[in-house]
Amino acid sequence: MKPTRPFHQTPVITIDGPTASGKGTVAALVAATLGFHLLDSGALYRLTALASMRYNIDAADAEALAKLIGALHITFREGCAQLDGVDVSADIRAEPVGNRASAIAVHPDVRKALIARQRAFRKVPGLVADGRDMGTVIFPDATLKVFLTASAEARAARRHKQLIQKGFSANMEDLLRDLRERDTRDSSRTVAPLKPAADAKTLDTSALSIDQAVEQIIGWFNQVRV
Ligand code: DC
Repeated sequence: MKPTRPFHQTPVITIDGPTASGKGTVAALVAATLGFHLLDSGALYRLTALASMRYNIDAADAEALAKLIGALHITFREGCAQLDGVDVSADIRAEPVGNRASAIAVHPDVRKALIARQRAFRKVPGLVADGRDMGTVIFPDATLKVFLTASAEARAARRHKQLIQKGFSANMEDLLRDLRERDTRDSSRTVAPLKPAADAKTLDTSALSIDQAVEQIIGWFNQVRV
């Protein structure tokens, strides 16, 4: 009889990196190419941030935020994020929501409350997970760990283009300042700071096209997959 594949052997590719490094786009394309599931962990932090704004919960109140996460009804369907049955995909991309997500992500209790929700995405035939601590905390046994990075200027320019395309107003100087602030906060927090896992491969995308980044990651995965 053919042995069944143990749960933990379901392959996972983790793609971590700073804000606007292109993780989201690259992760979605890698997942689509391989036919894998996709976890956009930042969306979970953003959904929590949006809900906390709507329910008037203070960004410093870790206990109330953790309780809120337990009660949230979150679904991802065909690229849409739903909160309590309502599509909020566009709302969670607004800059104030991203900044609040970064602020609430410093609380250990908030991070703990989101662990099980993130690990539940690991299903056959495989998963591509993007975020900050996918390779270090959530999936330490990942098949392939990638740390995607790019210069602050390249990332601010990408974020600017993204926001304008989505119909939000954006100013390069403000974006660059916010991005540096968020980098500092995400990298200096004591719990699950943004840093490459010891066994991660770093990919600088400042001078790479999206297709080149995707190709490199698929190439690495083909070398390590069993
Ligand atoms: O990737 P993003 O910009 O959508 O994430 C929004 C914020 O959520 C980010 O500034 C920090 C936090 N975050 C986190 O702490 N850990 C993750 N795995 C993903 C996001």
